[in-house]
Amino acid sequence: MPVVAMTVNGKAVSADVESRTLLVQFLRENLRLTGTHVGCDTSQCGACVVMVNDQSIKSCTALAVSLQGAHVTTIEGLAKDGKLHPMQEAFRQNHGLQCGFCTPGMIMSAIDIVNRNGSRLEEKTVREELEGNICRCTGYHNIVKAIVAGGAAMGA
Ligand code: FES
Ligand code: FES
Repeated sequence: MPVVAMTVNGKAVSADVESRTLLVQFLRENLRLTGTHVGCDTSQCGACVVMVNDQSIKSCTALAVSLQGAHVTTIEGLAKDGKLHPMQEAFRQNHGLQCGFCTPGMIMSAIDIVNRNGSRLEEKTVREELEGNICRCTGYHNIVKAIVAGGAAMGA
């Protein structure tokens, strides 16, 4: 089996994996980073979004072996020194979750939205950008509010 080596949440990791192993399986099953969720098998729900080399991707769409040497950040890598990332804090403050299943992917996508669009986000932009993330609980309203607030906090 090929060895895959990459940096995940700032730590060098490596493992023997089958060539067909998806990044999401590598994270959840090899590294036990189960904050990245699997909500579909059709690349639609966005529950599996992580950052690879500072860009968001759906980790169910990438083979682990294609990411040799990559820098990956998962939801577990966002908090620093026991303090939530500003986007995590904004979701908490704005009640941007109910069951929480979609939340890790939402937060990773939200950070990518801010990185690409700047910290002063309009609700319309956020709604358009969230087309790849499905939430079955909230009706999205508080998620959008959280992302606008999180963007402002990231820019402050
Ligand atoms: Fe990746 Fe649904 S599990 S998009
Ligand atoms: Fe339950 Fe989004 S909070 S799926």
